[in-house]
Amino acid sequence: MSQGSDPQTRPARKVFIKTYGCQMNVYDSQRMGDALGAEGYEATERVEEADLVLLNTCHIREKAAEKIYSELGRIRVLKTEREAAGLGSLRVGITGCVAQAEGAEIIARAPVVDLVIGPQTYHRLPDALRRVDGGERVVDTDYAVDSKFDHLPKSTDRQIRSRGVSAFLTVQEGCDKFCTFCVVPYTRGAEVSRARAAILKEARELAEAGVREVTLLGQNVNAWGPDEGGLASLLHDLAAIPGLARLRYTTSHPLDMDEALIRTHGELRQLMPYLHLPVQSGSDRILKAMNRRHTAADYLAILDRIRAVRPDIALSGDFIVGFPGESDEDFEATLRLVREVSYAAAYTFKYSPRPGTPGATMDGHVPEDVKTERLDRLQALIREQQVAFQESFVGRRCEVLIEKVGRHPGQMIGRSPFLLPVVVPASAGAVGDIVEVSISETRPNSLMAAGAEPPAMPATVSMAASSPPLARKIA
Ligand code: 5AD
Ligand code: SF4
Repeated sequence: MSQGSDPQTRPARKVFIKTYGCQMNVYDSQRMGDALGAEGYEATERVEEADLVLLNTCHIREKAAEKIYSELGRIRVLKTEREAAGLGSLRVGITGCVAQAEGAEIIARAPVVDLVIGPQTYHRLPDALRRVDGGERVVDTDYAVDSKFDHLPKSTDRQIRSRGVSAFLTVQEGCDKFCTFCVVPYTRGAEVSRARAAILKEARELAEAGVREVTLLGQNVNAWGPDEGGLASLLHDLAAIPGLARLRYTTSHPLDMDEALIRTHGELRQLMPYLHLPVQSGSDRILKAMNRRHTAADYLAILDRIRAVRPDIALSGDFIVGFPGESDEDFEATLRLVREVSYAAAYTFKYSPRPGTPGATMDGHVPEDVKTERLDRLQALIREQQVAFQESFVGRRCEVLIEKVGRHPGQMIGRSPFLLPVVVPASAGAVGDIVEVSISETRPNSLMAAGAEPPAMPATVSMAASSPPLARKIA
């Protein structure tokens, strides 16, 4: 099989990947980067020094394509400058969901683009690049029947380690739910699950490289493996892998929270007590128009069952305000549901009509200023809940997985089981350790462990001067 030019004998080419959108895109970008590594490309964070630029795009809300075209405008300037300076040509690729949805149009509208690859065919990226080198402009947006992941070269230990002790692992893609606001079923296609054996193999490789926490990803991750025993059985297998101390999964649809999965929340100590379970609206009328196929009461009943087996579970959700036909009363029902659940975090969006989805042509579009006002009220309520959730940890013990060194000397940053970043003193442990600390205070989006408070002096004082007070606080 052709491997392209020998990475040993030519200076490494550099690839800059910009990722938009969800965690699945983050994972895809990592895998594409790793695959290009095997082709002799090195990742760079600086677009100016790149030989290849990939924009891994998201199509979920409006203006996605416009954002890409304006980014392409900037890249075109870079490309011209680079070529004028005799530094060779710059290759430009569009990947992800905008590529899938608008591939042919992008190639026609943006001459700077050399290749367009949809989310299902990343394993053909090296080959597509060779065709680009041969002077072609490539569009490849098929829905490949074979899984791209099983055809991408495996990531090396060094690549895995460079990304830290917490890793993403995509286990499922696509969606059959067809919520009437959502483009995902059209851009990512039907629900497809990766095989259990391939997932376990990848998880073992991650653990062997030092990963302690794995977040399973899928557009409907809890619909994983209908013929393989479902997500609960996969989680049980993953929990048996030595070294993997923490498991998470995201994102889920309420309809697929089956009994076995709910029970697993009470059975596996590795499964972290944090669940992202989008509901979108608290109004049954709107839920029906959204084709969510459950009511607000169904959703609350699921949460009750999960809380019965895991009382400390923290919840997060997604909400859309201003779906067509949403009245003040419907919106009030959403606020009521939020009050009833009490979220640790939530993502809130104004409805954005997506061409080709049923919602876009429904009657009763809500004026922008009403959407804005509802979004503000919803966000204020959720923020209150988030602050209360964070403050509930002050004075309590908390297990933290240490992920990286902190911004200030003497600090490390980790995560609580509930996904909150926690600043811990460096003396607490090393990256990859799970340590128990006591929480002394909250910061806007993090918790502070006792002994980790930065020195109470201006940042300009020398480190030597600032260490004694810090040391005293630890003591
Ligand atoms: N408008 C606004 N928000 C949307 N989402 C998906 N489609 C739209 C849309 N057309 C939100 C949903 C989903 C999250 C990933 O993005 O809340 O759960
Ligand atoms: Fe979109 Fe609904 Fe599928 Fe989620 S469940 S990806 S919101 S269609």
